[in-house]
Amino acid sequence: MKHQIKEAKGKLGVLMPGLGAVATTFIAGVEAVKKGLAQPIGSVAQMGHIRLGKRTDNRNPLIKDFVSLASLNDLVFGGWDVYEDNVYTAAVKAEVLDRFQLEAIKPELEAIVPMKAAFDKNFVKNLDGTHVKDNKTRYELAQAVIEDIKNFQKEKGCDRVVMVWCGSTEIYHEAADVHMSLAAFEQGLKDNDLRIAPSMIYAYAALTLGVPFANGAPNLTCDIPALIELSKKTKTPIAGKDFKTGQTLMKTILAPGLTARALGMEGWFSTNILGNRDGWVLDDPDNFKTKEVSKLGVLEDILLPEENPELYGDMYHKIRINYYPPRKDNKESWDNIDIIGWMGYKMQIKINFLCRDSILAAPIVLDLALFIDFAKRAGMSGIQEWLSFYLKSPQTAPGLRPEHDIFKQLIKLQNTLRYLMGEDLITHLGLDYYEGILNEE
Ligand SMILES: NC(=O)c1ccc[n+]([C@@H]2O[C@H](COP(=O)([O-])OP(=O)(O)OC[C@H]3O[C@@H](n4cnc5c(N)ncnc54)[C@H](O)[C@@H]3O)[C@@H](O)[C@H]2O)c1
Repeated sequence: MKHQIKEAKGKLGVLMPGLGAVATTFIAGVEAVKKGLAQPIGSVAQMGHIRLGKRTDNRNPLIKDFVSLASLNDLVFGGWDVYEDNVYTAAVKAEVLDRFQLEAIKPELEAIVPMKAAFDKNFVKNLDGTHVKDNKTRYELAQAVIEDIKNFQKEKGCDRVVMVWCGSTEIYHEAADVHMSLAAFEQGLKDNDLRIAPSMIYAYAALTLGVPFANGAPNLTCDIPALIELSKKTKTPIAGKDFKTGQTLMKTILAPGLTARALGMEGWFSTNILGNRDGWVLDDPDNFKTKEVSKLGVLEDILLPEENPELYGDMYHKIRINYYPPRKDNKESWDNIDIIGWMGYKMQIKINFLCRDSILAAPIVLDLALFIDFAKRAGMSGIQEWLSFYLKSPQTAPGLRPEHDIFKQLIKLQNTLRYLMGEDLITHLGLDYYEGILNEE
């Protein structure tokens, strides 16, 4: 297997539909790292280690030294947006990063100008951008995005390209007949079927060209049979959905611990305030519904109430997102968890997380881009469940329950890398360390 992985040579283009807060923070961070002005903190691909072999072997390299990942110096960026601001201006408006930090990388950021978006306001009701393609049908839009990708790759001299959706959350909709097969989807594009969301058009364009696609929003996007079929046909990896940051990150860290100790839970109430453009988009009930569904699945899949009715049968899970402009990207969240202990005695846990949404999301964009490119070079295609570590609502094979426990997700990610590199998988059994002692007795 190891010998089948192509080396990461040449430039890797990272294309992002949506050059808003997350995308600009990601690009700015990589450019700052390239200049030695920052560290890629939060990137497991850059700063995480992986144990190889037995604990006594003391082999614990950095992941980036263990597998062939694109070097940050080889990354080039591009994207689309419904607003025409270049990445520097968009980053200034997003107010995530300090101005003095942005000034140091201004020329690099100013040079990245968004391409016109494939957009339909019906899917993002609170946006009014005008920097949009005027093609008549969904089919023409898809062809235009395909041309954009080809031109970008040629102009920038990229050896490979990946796409990460960093665009707004689209309204809630469910897969319909037009999404059920590639043939139906392509007919739908030609018929300009309005049930095909803009994010699906980008994903279709990417997958048609064999460009790996990761979805950072909770939208359906590539989580439909038609695009899974296309990803298999063109041997292209896909992953989604919804970057796992803030509140859900805390949930998937804490809930596995509580259930591991067989503590019961009566309720988990999560509320938060944020005032960035993402918060404004999510202020519309139809767009919020998409996010709510993505966030709600997490606890149920960790606690498994049907298998543990005494502990979690009456669990009440509530999530609120409130648009509150003064906080901008600096989200504040409050969680109240009502837990139950020995003999039914009640306890409470309170979490008050003053986080920075895009600061938590940026390293996820980086890792998804690097790993999905690695997956392609390793000959993998279709759904990459091992990347669920980064995602709130992991895309899995039809009928397969997603794994939300972040620690199991990390083991899955690391074991996938070990497997691809021909290393022993680590089970954490550990009995072999004591075999000598047992034999002596
Ligand atoms: N920041 C986080 O912690 C976090 C976590 C999970 C998911 N997300 C998701 O990531 C996405 C980006 O978040 P953000 O904070 O950068 O939002 P943002 O509003 O700052 O940026 C999104 C950008 O996408 C653009 N856009 C919308 N539709 C488009 C289209 N069809 N084509 C091209 N551009 C389009 C918008 O104009 C906007 O500039 C959102 O969907 C958000 O829900 C963010």
